[in-house]
Amino acid sequence: MPPIRAKITGVTRYVPPRLLTNADLEKMVDTTNDWILERTGIRERHLVENGMASSHMATEAARALLAEKGVHPEEIDLIVVATVTPDMLFPSTACLVQDRLGATRAWGFDLLAACSGFIYALTVGFQFVAAGTHRKALVIGSDTMSSIIDYEDRATCVLFGDGAGAVLIEPCQNNPADMGVIDFHHDIDGSGGCFLHMPGGGSLHPPSHETVEKKMHYVHQDGRQVFKYAVRRMAEVSEMLLTRNGFTGKDLDLLVPHQANERIIRATAERLGLSDSQVLLNIERYGNTTAGTIPIALVDALEQGRLKKGDLVLLLAVGAGYTTGGLLLRWAY
Ligand code: UT7
Repeated sequence: MPPIRAKITGVTRYVPPRLLTNADLEKMVDTTNDWILERTGIRERHLVENGMASSHMATEAARALLAEKGVHPEEIDLIVVATVTPDMLFPSTACLVQDRLGATRAWGFDLLAACSGFIYALTVGFQFVAAGTHRKALVIGSDTMSSIIDYEDRATCVLFGDGAGAVLIEPCQNNPADMGVIDFHHDIDGSGGCFLHMPGGGSLHPPSHETVEKKMHYVHQDGRQVFKYAVRRMAEVSEMLLTRNGFTGKDLDLLVPHQANERIIRATAERLGLSDSQVLLNIERYGNTTAGTIPIALVDALEQGRLKKGDLVLLLAVGAGYTTGGLLLRWAY
């Protein structure tokens, strides 16, 4: 695959201040801090309050990004928001963010691919910039998982948190020293749809008293099935992307995986022969924020001094659908 001439030039995150700890959850459902930590690696997650929704977190992250980069909102050409928890079905979250930012020249849309949503949206942004038709694309992952979680279901309520992240994508110069995307692989497998889904609220089961009574507006998951699929696919896609570009695990400076379960991430790292220093793990502090995990993790990596210009980075996710995404790049700044 020829290199895609586009790169990430900035990344920011927003997580709401309110914390829900494992100790809090022990008082809400039949669970323990030990079970949650051992089975998932999560200690705490951030949750929204006071009417904050996905568009608000997305806007906070985007505003911080534009301020950090000194970019005027009118310079933005495209806004893609990955989310499974839009404020409402329409208008899209991208429209709400565009209006609040004053990004008057931008067009945009929402993209739904659950936990792989951010990587898919990133790929869309890269393509438009690499095509030369767009110079500044804003790609955002934002999910208010607390809005679709049943806090009486211990199997799901301990897993998720709220959060958002935003990246700016700009063109690479046409010389080898400039950095950018190397390769990506995405696939979907709809046969796994029943294992992780929110059945109510769409055209099949529009909201009604019955759908509410049957708890159809919440996340339903067969954790064991999703776990097995994620462990297998995360490893397969990583190996495929590294091998076909002439790399091995040793060449990887940082794996930035979707944060759904520490055990899934450790299994992937083991398969690739990676040391702890090559893997970004921050699920402990945020839980699974769905489309938010990867940009939030990138900001954590930068803050910890674990990302520098030229680093070989692999972004990786498996999510509802099933959706799988892997993207290999050279960090550009
Ligand atoms: O990001 C989207 C993709 N999602 C994922 O990648 C999630 C993948 N799945 C997982 O991360 C794990 O399957 C879970 C963390 C969801 C569950 O861990 P597990 O080790 O697969 O547990 P399990 O579902 O097999 O349940 C084991 C036991 C069960 O009890 P029995 O049947 O053995 O008596 C559950 O009822 O643990 C019980 N259990 C809990 N116990 C205490 C389930 N949830 C809890 C809980 N606290 N919160």
